[in-house]
Amino acid sequence: MKLAIDRERMGSEIEALAAFSDADAPAVTRIVFTAKDMEARAWVRTRCEEAGLEVRQDAIGNTFARWTGSDAALPVVGTGSHIDAIPNAGKYDGVVGVLGGLEAIRALRKAGFCPRHSIELLIFTSEEPTRFGIGCLGSRLLSGTLSADAARKLTDNDGVSVEDVRRKAGLTGELEQVKLPAGYYKAFVELHIEQGPILEREQVPLGVVERIAAPASLRVTVEGAGGHAGGVLMPERKDALCAAAELILALEQAAQTSGAIDTVATVGICEVFPGAVNSIPARVRISVDIRDTSLVRRDAVVRALEEACRSTSEKRQVTIHPEWLNSDAPAESGPAIVAALRQACEKHGFKFLPMTSRAYHDSLFISRIAPVAMLFIPCRHGYSHRPDEYASPDDIAWGTVVLAETLAMLAE
Ligand code: GLV
Ligand code: MN
Ligand code: MN
Repeated sequence: MKLAIDRERMGSEIEALAAFSDADAPAVTRIVFTAKDMEARAWVRTRCEEAGLEVRQDAIGNTFARWTGSDAALPVVGTGSHIDAIPNAGKYDGVVGVLGGLEAIRALRKAGFCPRHSIELLIFTSEEPTRFGIGCLGSRLLSGTLSADAARKLTDNDGVSVEDVRRKAGLTGELEQVKLPAGYYKAFVELHIEQGPILEREQVPLGVVERIAAPASLRVTVEGAGGHAGGVLMPERKDALCAAAELILALEQAAQTSGAIDTVATVGICEVFPGAVNSIPARVRISVDIRDTSLVRRDAVVRALEEACRSTSEKRQVTIHPEWLNSDAPAESGPAIVAALRQACEKHGFKFLPMTSRAYHDSLFISRIAPVAMLFIPCRHGYSHRPDEYASPDDIAWGTVVLAETLAMLAE
């Protein structure tokens, strides 16, 4: 089978999709259910229809584009990723897996391949946690990891619920219908940029992901006492920001001393109320993201943070309220898919590395209901979630050809 990847088309499609953005180029900002996100989805749907795929959308906006196999009753072989982008992001995160999946299907069709299992491209809704605080909204619902009821209650920063936002975006049906039936997938494979420096450093074009690290995230609200920055003397203060600073440093310390380089912890948002230079912070909300390949180590950091909340609250006489957003277990890749990916790399003469994904992905949640694996391609300097994120046309094409070969093996 001769698999021809159209690099020029892929390059121009990546550029075209990047233009649906609320930030000036080269930055991409595409927050779920904004006008730009909806336009970008419509654009991708049209590309899928032009490729001869049958497109359907579920109640949360997960989009499925199917190439029906010769035995349509068999479980599906899935591929795909996301097109939403955090503020000030780049062009490749998620997009490579969506457009690469589409190009892989086009290449297989052009090569005259006839799948026995249907092959389906999936564009997940809201992999990024930007709007609703929780990542992988679409795949959590598909896998039943998040209930429809819990999803409905999620709100954005303006207090608007998922339910209202999705209905305004024109999505109909009930969230209860999003969960996939048992046995839906035979396998799911996601192509993605590495979002780390290893492949580039080792000069290896592909990474076969064998496990995905376990993420946990929470919002912590610290309530102290506000007041005049001149009038309230230091011994009288209950400064919420100073208390939050202690929590942030305790978290950093816990991650640094976990005993493994795989432990990471980040506070990426700190909201200060009322936020005036001459006003003592009365309330602070921080967002905390903790990850590890080991659940035991990850949870030890979580407990250290909880302990810091208790001791800081007592010491500084402030109220500290942690609110859990998610606490997810890691995933192991399906051995048969890993074997197929390795075989496809070998067949096309590509070196590859076995890898761990430290970022989370929708595949983490699909792994709860199906065997999954991921294929990584290098990104320059390991940069991701920033406007200068870059993957080369060669690497994208090589990832796409290996993805196509793997889908063919799985769908035969
Ligand atoms: C996904 O974008 C992550 O934060 O790992
Ligand atoms: Mn991302
Ligand atoms: Mn991603």
